Amino acid sequence: MEERSEQAVLGRALELAVAFRHSLPHRHVGAVATLEELTAALGRPLAERGEDPVRVVDEIAAACERGLVASAGPRYFGFVVGGGLPASLAADWLVSAWDQDAGLYALGPAAAVAEDVTAAWLLDLLGLPEGTSVGFVTGGQMANFTGLAAGRHKVLAAAGWDVEEDGLSGAPPVTVLIGEGAHVTILSSLRMLGLGGRRAVRVAADEQGRMKTEALRDALAQVAGPAIVCAQAGNVNSGAFDPLDEIVDLAHQRRAWVHVDGAFGLWAAASPRTRTLLRGVEKADSWATDAHKWLNVPYDSGLAFVREPGAHRASLTLRADYLQRGSLAERNPSDWVPESSRRARGVPVYAALRSLGRAGVAALVERCCALARRAAGQFAARPGVRVLNDVVLNQVLVRFEGRGDGDALTKAVIARVQREGTCWLGGTRWRGQEAMRVSVSGWSTTEADMDRSVAAVLDAFAAESRS
Ligand SMILES: Cc1ncc(COP(=O)(O)O)c(C=O)c1O
Repeated sequence: MEERSEQAVLGRALELAVAFRHSLPHRHVGAVATLEELTAALGRPLAERGEDPVRVVDEIAAACERGLVASAGPRYFGFVVGGGLPASLAADWLVSAWDQDAGLYALGPAAAVAEDVTAAWLLDLLGLPEGTSVGFVTGGQMANFTGLAAGRHKVLAAAGWDVEEDGLSGAPPVTVLIGEGAHVTILSSLRMLGLGGRRAVRVAADEQGRMKTEALRDALAQVAGPAIVCAQAGNVNSGAFDPLDEIVDLAHQRRAWVHVDGAFGLWAAASPRTRTLLRGVEKADSWATDAHKWLNVPYDSGLAFVREPGAHRASLTLRADYLQRGSLAERNPSDWVPESSRRARGVPVYAALRSLGRAGVAALVERCCALARRAAGQFAARPGVRVLNDVVLNQVLVRFEGRGDGDALTKAVIARVQREGTCWLGGTRWRGQEAMRVSVSGWSTTEADMDRSVAAVLDAFAAESRS
């Protein structure tokens, strides 16, 4: 392609992207297009002849416009979703433009070194042990998979079994203990690792979703062989933290590996105000978190940490004659992730951390927590609205009650809020009841955004209470 034509298509993409970003605070927060509309807008037979790149980009933007969710904007409180900091987004564009294969040092030296530097910053920021190895993965799912793969390696190696070479047939059984509130991606990781989701021993949790230490003690007393304990730093609904300090001590007494799923909760370490929730976290063996959640790096960006680099590398590394390695000082990113060819995923994380600085990450965490408390206070002040959890972090669970069925009312309020479009919140079931989830994870949300959103939800509640 000629330089001029490349300039035209990249320039057009930039214009469209900037226009979309500027629309975020003003657009209907949920998508407005139907499935049929989007299928009609995007669908067509694959043409025999190629089309002009500028036209392709223009038409993609037009076809997708009404099917886009303003999840990168200031009033999206669904699931646990961060927004994409400007520096990080721009770095992500560079990553696409460079198109490095960041699997091996030889394929992308700059990408490998950016990962090394970023890894050291992350250990420091999150209070994890020096020397811990770090994998830049696609998300929390693969971060959990990576930590558990290293754990599976270690506990079976200690029992004299080489799981990477000999598989699980005939291996000593591995007992995995998880809290009742464990995230679903722990179960899918166990399935992918051949450890079985259903076989996991479920340890009772308290009313906030925290694993009960006594129940773990009892469960561990029944375990004879290799074992892995999965703890949670930040319940996906309530934001509650398992008592990590006690859990790690109990598990280590049994030589069990401890993996901590901190997909968003691990970022609490960045602020002195929330760090105490993570007491003892540094004693665990592996940790998972997401940069695309609370650090506000664009998708897809997860982080896996393993205390013992040997176990980490042994469980994932690739070896082939043509994958030639240089000196030991050179990082080969694919040693630490369940992938071979991959994008230079560390660079947008590097950019996010540099653009925020240590104080900026702390402020982001603190601001989101303060906004969650602000929302909880406003909801709780309205008769008929109940806040179901202790708001210790950035998550709030809200239930609406009136004359009739509280479950039906709560669902109806959520549906009305989503249709109205000022903000977007999703639902869940919490301890047998329907609830609305509020997750405050975006860098751009202000107090005014939160007040406007709470007002929209309370208007929806009023309207549904009348109907
Ligand atoms: C606690 C927890 N663990 C794991 C995940 C999975 O993360 P991802 O969707 O990035 O794979 C999530 C996602 O919300 C989560 O909240």
